[in-house]
Amino acid sequence: MNIKASEITSPESYAGRRQWLQWAASGVAGAALATWAQRDALANAPSSAWPALNHSTSKVAGAISIEAVTPAKHVTSYNNFYEFGMGKDDPERYAQQLPVDPWSVEVEGLVHKPGRWALENLLKLSPMEERIYRLRCVEGWSMVIPWVGYSLAELLRRVEPMGSAKFVEFVTVADVQHMRGLKSGVLSWPYTEGLRLDEAMHPLTLLAFGMYGHTLPKQNGAPLRLVVPWKYGFKSAKSIVKIRLVEAMPQSAWMKSAPHEYGFYSNVNPDVPHRRWSQATERRIGEGGLLAPKRKTERFNGYAEQVGQLYAGMDLQRNF
Ligand code: MTE
Repeated sequence: MNIKASEITSPESYAGRRQWLQWAASGVAGAALATWAQRDALANAPSSAWPALNHSTSKVAGAISIEAVTPAKHVTSYNNFYEFGMGKDDPERYAQQLPVDPWSVEVEGLVHKPGRWALENLLKLSPMEERIYRLRCVEGWSMVIPWVGYSLAELLRRVEPMGSAKFVEFVTVADVQHMRGLKSGVLSWPYTEGLRLDEAMHPLTLLAFGMYGHTLPKQNGAPLRLVVPWKYGFKSAKSIVKIRLVEAMPQSAWMKSAPHEYGFYSNVNPDVPHRRWSQATERRIGEGGLLAPKRKTERFNGYAEQVGQLYAGMDLQRNF
């Protein structure tokens, strides 16, 4: 494995980014390298025209990575958001017309307190935190992104799931007038995803409203999206309009379109190849293009210590 010391998320890093910045300032070798990378990333930070989002640094274990943050210019121009087209630059080009204000999210199904949440109220529901997560796409590339949001569990607790609720389904916006990709039959729209309730309640599962200290750009799923860092990126549904608690495992849009290729769990797993390619390695976007050496993909995308117990006793080859 060819991983630099500065790229390893040390247990110490869980102690908090502020402390880490102090170590970096005091000249601790590997961390100092990362500081420069972070500074580089900030130089490429998105336009200050995006509204800033107040937040603090996360205390959730595993949420802070000292790997170099991917420069924002890549994260906002190399996207998957099929509602706007299948090209990587289609979302940046075509998402800007999507109206995201006003916005609300309907929470329904097996909850004691169903209802419609206006975005303003979701923004106030819990303090925002910055969480630096790896995002590993099923296509074999990855990024490191500083998200801003809070644990989805904060919202789920307030709606009081019933004992019969076992899964959570996420439904995203399907705006025919503003989403040119909806004309294509590549997926059945709206784009939907799902998690088991305990996965949805895990503190790492983030309801994100921003990135790089600002509100989410439209191509990244404004005004709110899911981020599930130990699963392939497609589980992290963008521009959510409905959250439904259900008893039976929901079928995601990807499961419907290609059931042999996309399972419900879709945990990042270097040992379970996609039907058409290996998942053993990944290309980090922003690190030298197609010719750069690939990185080894980690089990659960490097979050095994935090989430491995959710799958104790399960056959992860069968439950892919
Ligand atoms: N959400 C919706 N609604 N539509 C999509 O096409 N693509 C998924 C996921 N969420 C997608 C989506 C995929 S395949 C990935 S890898 C991530 O979003 C990409 O997120 P990013 O563009 O912000 O990096």
